[in-house]
Amino acid sequence: MRQFEDEGFGRVIRHIQDEVEFEPEYYNPDYLDRRITARMRRQEVEEYDDYLEILQSDSREKEALMDSLTINVTNFFRNQEMWEALRPVLRDLTDEHRRVRVWSAPCADGREPYSVSMLSRDDRKIDDSRLTIVGTDISDEALENARAGTYETTRTTDIGEELSLLDDPEKYVNVEDNTFTVKPEIRDSIQFERHDLIQDGPRRNCDLVFCRNLLIYIDSEFKIPIFNTLTDSMQDGSYLVIGMTETIPQELRDEFEPVNKRCRIYQYTP
Ligand SMILES: C[S@@+](CC[C@H](N)C(=O)[O-])C[C@H]1O[C@@H](n2cnc3c(N)ncnc32)[C@H](O)[C@@H]1O
Repeated sequence: MRQFEDEGFGRVIRHIQDEVEFEPEYYNPDYLDRRITARMRRQEVEEYDDYLEILQSDSREKEALMDSLTINVTNFFRNQEMWEALRPVLRDLTDEHRRVRVWSAPCADGREPYSVSMLSRDDRKIDDSRLTIVGTDISDEALENARAGTYETTRTTDIGEELSLLDDPEKYVNVEDNTFTVKPEIRDSIQFERHDLIQDGPRRNCDLVFCRNLLIYIDSEFKIPIFNTLTDSMQDGSYLVIGMTETIPQELRDEFEPVNKRCRIYQYTP
């Protein structure tokens, strides 16, 4: 267990490690501190030890902290510009290979792999019958939501707007008031599994891997192990997409050829 300058902060982190289904060691300490102090403000306490007492006695706060730490924010077609840039990649891949393996890791509540499945049906130049799509995440709750495939438009989330990149969204979702449910044909096109990108091994022969919006939160020492898992899952010529604010670690840059630098789409060329 690493040492923290503030001992109270260290005690909160140790409590999280022991009591909550979350591995704080992986994450950047500044990120952890921002999340914890935001919860402390909500609870109107200033000292870490006072917050620790609340965590020990109030299971709702434990849940609220867990929610805040796992940053499971996602979208359908998050960063639409990237999805436009991905169309030619999906067209080429499904043109050139009989079976194209796609891995969305981490997939959060499933909207990223569902976006791949919907786009490939909506774009007539992509042969969706050749795709096999797997979505994985460390969070069982996120995976449960992904398998359910039901999403709500709320004050802060407009699902209709998220799906607007598609020519005909209602071919892929049933809409009832504010509730959008992915149609069975789309839901069954994705396999969801639990997978920890730091602890668990690689998958086999992936042609296109998404690893978006996790690396920004991860402590730098764990980025290389994550990249090793990703590259061990790819072959020469496979594609990798990372988040629009993320970067490939310096020591691995030679192994990736940018396909679209701004959209962070790369081809693996070991
Ligand atoms: C911000 S979401 C990203 C979802 C999607 N890729 C996107 O860009 O919208 C981050 C996800 O990473 C998952 N996660 C955190 N640590 C992980 C790990 N070690 N292995 C796999 N998934 C992890 C969280 O549960 C969360 O669902």
